[in-house]
Amino acid sequence: MKALLCVEHGPPETLVVREVPTPEPGKGEVRIRVAAAGVNFPDVLIIQNLYQFKPPLPFSPGGEAAGVVDAVGEGVTHLKPGDRVLAMTGTGAFAEYLIAEAAQAVPLPDAMPLDVAAGFTMTYATSHHALKQRANLQPGETLLVLGAAGGVGLAAVELGKVMGARVVAAASSEEKLALCREYGADETINYSTEDLRAGIKRTCGAGPDVIYDPVGDTFAEPAFRSIGWNGRYLVVGFAGGEIPKLPLNLALIKGASIVGVFWGAFTTREAKLHAANMAELIRWLAEGKLHPHMSRRFSLDDGAQAIRWMMDRKAMGKVLVEM
Ligand SMILES: NC(=O)c1ccc[n+]([C@@H]2O[C@H](COP(=O)([O-])OP(=O)(O)OC[C@H]3O[C@@H](n4cnc5c(N)ncnc54)[C@H](OP(=O)(O)O)[C@@H]3O)[C@@H](O)[C@H]2O)c1
Repeated sequence: MKALLCVEHGPPETLVVREVPTPEPGKGEVRIRVAAAGVNFPDVLIIQNLYQFKPPLPFSPGGEAAGVVDAVGEGVTHLKPGDRVLAMTGTGAFAEYLIAEAAQAVPLPDAMPLDVAAGFTMTYATSHHALKQRANLQPGETLLVLGAAGGVGLAAVELGKVMGARVVAAASSEEKLALCREYGADETINYSTEDLRAGIKRTCGAGPDVIYDPVGDTFAEPAFRSIGWNGRYLVVGFAGGEIPKLPLNLALIKGASIVGVFWGAFTTREAKLHAANMAELIRWLAEGKLHPHMSRRFSLDDGAQAIRWMMDRKAMGKVLVEM
């Protein structure tokens, strides 16, 4: 089979496309013929050895995919060849075939196309968990989303609206903010042209109740300084580069909470709650409440460019690698 491989750590340009043996599923595993894989920010980090998980070289990046089961290992009873599934594997998805633990492969409803499924879980399930369990977002509250046109950001904008919040989207260009408005944002802040604190003051009155931050870096402190009374600041990621340090007196003054979000750990530590979340998301998708946005599709041969696209801050919503 063909796979995009990280043979040495480095930028996307160091990735290579190679023929490798098609893997065989072991006990409790399934092999999936991949239709499409979602690109996520951890792919940017993992190929540079900057991610918390460090797979041995060589490995294929790509943490989520959808496709059709084509072989099952010993002991697998709930899946069979021909079943359409999505799988979250952390790595290995930028390849024609992917091995997944059977428990990681989730059968798809007929109505869910494979390309939608390939890019749905990481972004929507992270933002749903963040807003629902971590922030306890309530109807009528104001939600500020930073990096709002990115993968998790745009999902947070859309989910915030579904959950009844007033949503303020902050991003770096008018094109990105126009997309956020299409996804329901009530107000926008272009933090390339407007001071972030001034923008928050203009759009959020006494301050946002919840701040969703997948960017970190220089955005975190001004955003946290502007949070409302009893606010919840969601620490989602550091796409901006630096992990910020926050003065804790700001939490005291606002009665505010800094709340960590680690969706991957949540899926195993609170598996039942995660399953209930996924059921709710898939129901909302089927009801037409959610509209996953695919902004670019790359072939497997151009998979490295897909990661470069995200790294260069060009991605809006989801970027896919299609086999
Ligand atoms: N905690 C969790 O469980 C969890 C789960 C999934 C993802 N994450 C994290 O969430 C973050 C976003 O992931 P994603 O897949 O949504 O990525 P993404 O689509 O690339 O979105 C990231 C956004 O960050 C902004 N940004 C600011 N400075 C940037 C820079 N120097 N390089 C790249 N982007 C920059 C960009 O928006 P503007 O151009 O508008 O500023 C971009 O749209 C990552 O740090 C990822 O690791 C965390």
